[in-house]
Amino acid sequence: MACGKVILFGEHAVVYGVPALAVGIDRGAWADATWASPGTPGASSLHVHGWDITVTDDVDDEGLPLARALRDILRVTRAAAAVAAAQEQPTGPVMVQAGADLPPGGGLGCSAAIGVAVARALDPIAEDGAIAERVNAWERVFHGNPSGIDAAVSAMGGCVHFERSKKAREARESKPTIRRVHLARTLLLCIGHSGIASSTKTMVQAVARLRDRHPKTTHKAFEAISALVKSARLALEAGDVRAIGQLLDLNQVLLSGLFVSTPEIEQMCTLARAAGAEGAKLTGAGGGGCVVAIVEDTARGEAVLEAWKREGYDGFLTRVAPVAASVGRDAALPRAVQGSV
Ligand code: MEV
Repeated sequence: MACGKVILFGEHAVVYGVPALAVGIDRGAWADATWASPGTPGASSLHVHGWDITVTDDVDDEGLPLARALRDILRVTRAAAAVAAAQEQPTGPVMVQAGADLPPGGGLGCSAAIGVAVARALDPIAEDGAIAERVNAWERVFHGNPSGIDAAVSAMGGCVHFERSKKAREARESKPTIRRVHLARTLLLCIGHSGIASSTKTMVQAVARLRDRHPKTTHKAFEAISALVKSARLALEAGDVRAIGQLLDLNQVLLSGLFVSTPEIEQMCTLARAAGAEGAKLTGAGGGGCVVAIVEDTARGEAVLEAWKREGYDGFLTRVAPVAASVGRDAALPRAVQGSV
């Protein structure tokens, strides 16, 4: 099982080296892998339930990104197995079945969650950090220049502070710094879908064009987002839901300034605040997809969902609990992802 994600602060800016904060949610993706004996002829395949699509790794078709993603993840998984020579990895073809209960193009990390589930099914003993790295090869097929935050949160769960290098070349080549944020209390989040699917690749390219045309204003927006992320980390660690809400609202203003919001997203944020949410913003790439709102209690959460429903927007309530220190997940992570912020 791999979880979906909600970016609380810092989407888009994170692509350019600004830190971001994201949480894993209790919806996600699953996958099962069945290996044929080594030497068995035939191609490897991936079937995604719900999408009713099956791809094999022996087609070289630019129009089939899922086939390319399968090829890439098999390549990096096999390469890792070859390096860890002690680990016996089957070399025959593999049949993978996968599925997700996340909306594709919804900003909840559907493709990364399927990627993480597939990577784990292919190599169940790999550490979370290694899985996230492998899934970046998969994510590049769909998103062009992903920051890597979706794969990292999907693999790790909990609340994560993520930062990649600010230099474009290094960002592609070096490891990001990923740290757990220790939440002071369980977060209660309302997630609502604007009803419009969007493409992360297209939205990231739109922000890149804006940055080329208006480097100074875009830089200022990224600096403001960076300052927000610092305050938000403190608010999350203090369990200050009111402050988190106010910071979500400010982040939404800055995202609107990057032209990634839509009238539906603005309406959903307004509805959520009026129904009792402490704050709301788009989550993920924008241009459609989902909105996240934070609430103090279940009653207010239900009021937000009801307000969205009246206007035709679907939503659900999710809880993000503090990760128990004794669980020891950090211990399984490579040095780059250890420690708290
Ligand atoms: C997409 O979930 C988040 C973006 O910041 C892109 C990325 O980080 O790869 C828009």
